[in-house]
Amino acid sequence: MGGFETVIYEKDGRGIAAVTLNRPKALNAFSVRMRDDLYEVLNAIKIDDEIRAVIFKGAGEKAFCAGADLKEFLTAPSAVKARRIRSVRDLWRLFMRIPQPLIAALHGYVLGSGMEIALYCDLRIASEDVVFGLPEVGLGILPAAGGTQTLPRLLGLAASLDMLLTGRRINGKEALDSGLVTRLVPKDRLLQSAEEVALKIASFDPVVVRNAKQAVKKGMDMTLEQGLELEQRLAHIPDKI
Ligand code: CAA
Repeated sequence: MGGFETVIYEKDGRGIAAVTLNRPKALNAFSVRMRDDLYEVLNAIKIDDEIRAVIFKGAGEKAFCAGADLKEFLTAPSAVKARRIRSVRDLWRLFMRIPQPLIAALHGYVLGSGMEIALYCDLRIASEDVVFGLPEVGLGILPAAGGTQTLPRLLGLAASLDMLLTGRRINGKEALDSGLVTRLVPKDRLLQSAEEVALKIASFDPVVVRNAKQAVKKGMDMTLEQGLELEQRLAHIPDKI
């Protein structure tokens, strides 16, 4: 598999896949082409049992992703057409359905839909130059790639509204302090750190890893009682008893 215009997809023999957003001249801005490429890549990852962890990263020095492609955005189809395309090719829902752990290796600008991609990942590791922001409201739109839902589940209400309603940018230290990222590392160690984490996960029983992810993520949207039932179901898969 390969030959994507906007994404590099690599899979090694150790169970690690790497997805690189690859439009460095446009700070890896998220375009329609990138959406289609990611859709194909994620569908392949979802059914590939050899893959035990996935790393998302951005090409170039300056950004993981500077958000939606604003040049393309100005020529966007009507809202109706956009909604129809989204219902056929819902990349964001697909992100939620990937069973393997997703690790975001974040550097430089992580803005708008770039931040929303990072929020779909299970672990976020960033380098010290990272800058997070959701400029959408200031641009007259909502962060509608899931940001209004994923961010509060991670940061809580107040900190999320502060970012969403004011467009305030968050640096690496703030991101670490608030839990937006769980590890902050020097830039020259970012990819190595992400790979170490991916390899650690890949060394564990893949079914247990998937079930742990599912229990935590699905459980977040359940009552405690339902969540505990889910945990019991997933803890007692037949070959683990
Ligand atoms: N879309 C398209 N091109 C972009 C881009 C974007 N989002 N962000 C940067 N680029 C391009 C620039 O046009 C520039 O290209 P040229 O060299 O051809 O002019 C190149 O990337 C480098 O960018 P800058 O020269 O602007 O770099 P900088 O270091 O001076 O500034 C920045 C960096 C602060 C991130 C600035 O580029 C910026 O503000 N970018 C836009 C951020 C933004 O608002 N993103 C959209 C968020 S909204 C969203 O994502 C949701 C949605 O669905 C619409």
